[in-house]
Amino acid sequence: MGYILVLYYSRHGATREMARQIARGVESVAGMEARLRTVPPVSPVCEATEPAIPADGSPYASLDDLRGCAGLALGSPTRFGNMAAPLKYFLDGTSVLWLSGGLAGRPAGVFTSTSSMHGGQETTLLSMMLPLLHHGMLILGLPYSDADLFNTRSGGTPYGPSHVAGTDNKLPLTEEEKRLCRVLGQRLAETALVLRAGCR
Ligand SMILES: Cc1cc2nc3c(=O)[nH]c(=O)nc-3n(C[C@H](O)[C@H](O)[C@H](O)COP(=O)(O)O)c2cc1C
Repeated sequence: MGYILVLYYSRHGATREMARQIARGVESVAGMEARLRTVPPVSPVCEATEPAIPADGSPYASLDDLRGCAGLALGSPTRFGNMAAPLKYFLDGTSVLWLSGGLAGRPAGVFTSTSSMHGGQETTLLSMMLPLLHHGMLILGLPYSDADLFNTRSGGTPYGPSHVAGTDNKLPLTEEEKRLCRVLGQRLAETALVLRAGCR
């Protein structure tokens, strides 16, 4: 069975909870699995190493996780209106896949969490799309035909799911935010299946 790689970085858990909801959306589609993976933090200490398996949460992603995926959901907390360095660091190590066109033609979507409502969700989401476009991936957003995009009083954008976690990072995902995460997962899974069928 094919899988959608749900690849994220999360320091305080909000983006991780979004990733779980996206995985639920993926797994609501028969014939597609979700594979949750994270990346290690980066350190100002040169040559710092991390244990192969993180103390909690998803396993660390490998290039093979990326190479084998039928689609990708990429998530990061917003850091100064941009993605977090650990995720960018992981992506900067994917040139082998870029050179071979290994991800070209596969569907991808992005998601983020911020502390504040207008703290840069859209800029983060749009900038996260750039490396995926360089890889030749097909970017999926969220459609306004889903009423949650109109009704949300918190996160949720046409560029991808988002969450407002509050200044102490303790706000849980709202029902709209959760549903929009699941919609992205479902769209990625369904699109991956359609694309695969078209290739046969
Ligand atoms: C260095 C740094 C920069 C941040 N920049 C922003 C920002 O630009 N806008 C914002 O609303 N929140 C910002 N935040 C807050 C995080 O985006 C927010 O706490 C997020 O929900 C954390 O997600 P996580 O629980 O997955 O780690 C920043 C946090 C850090 C540590």
